[in-house]
Amino acid sequence: MVRHLYVHIPFCPKVCPYCSFYKEAGDRNKTKAFLDSILVEASAAADGLQPETVFFGGGTPTALSTPQLDFLISGLRERVDFSAVKEFTIEMNPATVSIEKAAALLNLGVNRVSMGVQSWDESLLRTLGRVHTGLQAERSYRILREAGVPNINLDLIFGIPGQSERQWMDTLRKTVDLAPDHISAYCLTYEEDTEYFAKFSRGEYAPEEGRDAGFFEMAMDVLSATGFSQYEISNYAQPGRECSHNLAYWRGEDYAGFGPSAFTTRSGKRWRNIADTAAYILRIQNRLPLHDFIEEVQPAMRRAERIAFALRTSAGIDGEEADPGRLASLASGGFVESRDSRIVLTRKGRLLADEVAAELL
Ligand SMILES: C[S@@+](CC[C@H](N)C(=O)[O-])C[C@H]1O[C@@H](n2cnc3c(N)ncnc32)[C@H](O)[C@@H]1O
Ligand code: SF4
Repeated sequence: MVRHLYVHIPFCPKVCPYCSFYKEAGDRNKTKAFLDSILVEASAAADGLQPETVFFGGGTPTALSTPQLDFLISGLRERVDFSAVKEFTIEMNPATVSIEKAAALLNLGVNRVSMGVQSWDESLLRTLGRVHTGLQAERSYRILREAGVPNINLDLIFGIPGQSERQWMDTLRKTVDLAPDHISAYCLTYEEDTEYFAKFSRGEYAPEEGRDAGFFEMAMDVLSATGFSQYEISNYAQPGRECSHNLAYWRGEDYAGFGPSAFTTRSGKRWRNIADTAAYILRIQNRLPLHDFIEEVQPAMRRAERIAFALRTSAGIDGEEADPGRLASLASGGFVESRDSRIVLTRKGRLLADEVAAELL
């Protein structure tokens, strides 16, 4: 039985210049056909699927109107067995929040919202090309609370061009003051095929590794001092508020993914749906396969992924999984340590997680 469901909604109010998720702005002519297509995909994949976690990501799922979200979620509930759902997350952009939408989503069973704030600083929000101001993001957060959303994550980005230590500290403090249940703090990455990557390639923007490592340490210090536990390198939660959906990915559990660009891992195979909304709809309408990539998940691959993901979490890895010589040398370098008979990254190791994982594979 597959216990996790991801649904990709590829629409955004405006495309941000640093983001490489599959999405498109505008062209709402396709929306109805897109929603119908997701429901066709759901009917075909419903056998053997009984999700405990559902995650609507994107893009920006709340770029859909309230009636469209109602149509989609009600339609999914008719086709897929939602009786075991414990966590139902939807991603929101602060510009797409309203009290009516929040109330309707709660009625439809959503119980967790993940909102992209990135920064509270107005000038950095402009640098990021965000469609909202800090003030608007704060108002949206308060609307979600007023509507009664019980579990809220706020996404932050650090390492923004021109960002000062002071600006990052202010953003961390302000976020903590609002008391969300969960905070994701990502270091800006220059993804290929983005405007930011082009600027980076032309030398207009450059990552400052020393500064960014300092920002990462500031996040760990401020958030751990205020009751958040860093249960994964970029994710901090109040007790009991860890994201079960992401934990399932990191544990290597199977999941179904609907919509353009969504991955599915089930029955020993992994595939990705074509990352093109018009082509996705056409394939559904013509009953053609949706994937443009498929592979067998080999045991060696599963092991490598399990180590790389688990090492990033506070649960760490089973010491038996790795070569004892390499573990010993990483431990003597101060990168990993043993805790409750598991191997976990030290604070120093968390700054170099990818390199440590590569060493263990
Ligand atoms: C799908 S978006 C979240 C919801 C909504 N689309 C929004 O932006 O408000 C997922 C998150 O990924 C993060 N993200 C996207 N591109 C990134 C990049 N290049 N580097 C670091 N974080 C990034 C942002 O924090 C963003 O909130
Ligand atoms: S960060 Fe969010 S709003 Fe911006 S383009 Fe990416 S998915 Fe869309």
